[in-house]
Amino acid sequence: MRENVLHMENITMQFGGVIAVNNLSIDVYEGEIVALIGPNGAGKTTAFNCITGVYEPTNGCVSFYGETIVSNHPQGKMKKLYTDQNSGLYPKVVSLTPDRITKRGIARTFQNIRLFKKLTVFENVLVAKHMRAKQNVFSATFRINYREERRMREETLALLEEQGLLKLKDELASSLPYGLQRRLEISRALATEPKLLMLDEPAAGMNPQETQELAEFIIQIKEKYDLTVLMIEHHMDLVMKISDRIYVLDFGKLIAHGTPAEVQKNQRVIDAYLGVAEDA
Ligand SMILES: Nc1ncnc2c1ncn2[C@@H]1O[C@H](COP(=O)(O)OP(=O)(O)O)[C@@H](O)[C@H]1O
Ligand SMILES: [Mg+2]
Repeated sequence: MRENVLHMENITMQFGGVIAVNNLSIDVYEGEIVALIGPNGAGKTTAFNCITGVYEPTNGCVSFYGETIVSNHPQGKMKKLYTDQNSGLYPKVVSLTPDRITKRGIARTFQNIRLFKKLTVFENVLVAKHMRAKQNVFSATFRINYREERRMREETLALLEEQGLLKLKDELASSLPYGLQRRLEISRALATEPKLLMLDEPAAGMNPQETQELAEFIIQIKEKYDLTVLMIEHHMDLVMKISDRIYVLDFGKLIAHGTPAEVQKNQRVIDAYLGVAEDA
């Protein structure tokens, strides 16, 4: 049995009267590529935000390699305390900040690209390297800081070379064409040395050729960096081709999950989403 990387249990996220995510449970195992699909507004990005500490969910918990990173069980909502196979009882409220979750090994990209537009390609990746190293700042002497800094700069250059971005290292992030900005965002995520990479619509705005290249790119980086991948995507050809398993959301609720073949022939999924996927 493969190791459980991400365990999301009964996550609910309510915004005023809107229940964006409704009692969602998801598991992702080591080495998998798992897709989260569903119509616009289904709650996919909100689910990502609950995992990465952007939102504190109204209810539920998330663990990463068996350790609780997010947990909220308001009184009255949960009759029993949950028990965790590794750490005993879940504490009632745990909410790590996004940067601590990044340090634990979860990196993500955003539906709307978020780069430092006025920084260069190199600087964008270096900043991410710093996020990884921050924990050492207080304990390190100046000399070690200097060495650390040099190491991070070298690693940044190596990563840019691997990602085919080295020639563009001194360009402003905002000057890159859209497809390369997406690739830079992924490179920045990789710079934090994640175990789990979460991609929010990585192929958005891409043509079929670019989407095809992205599919190969995702498989390539997954193998190279020993990643587990959780991705939100609307391009069904990409999803069906590279996913091991798929979870389908509609109005915040899980309506199906299974292999691509199982999900593709699921009538509920066809009715709620696949039948109208071109409009999404
Ligand atoms: N910060 C927020 N405040 C209020 N409503 C939100 C917020 N974020 C998302 N929503 C609502 O939650 C629902 C799910 O949104 P979202 O997770 O972005 O969907 P998806 O990513 O599947 O398209 C939508 O109705 C959206 O308007
Ligand atoms: Mg979204």
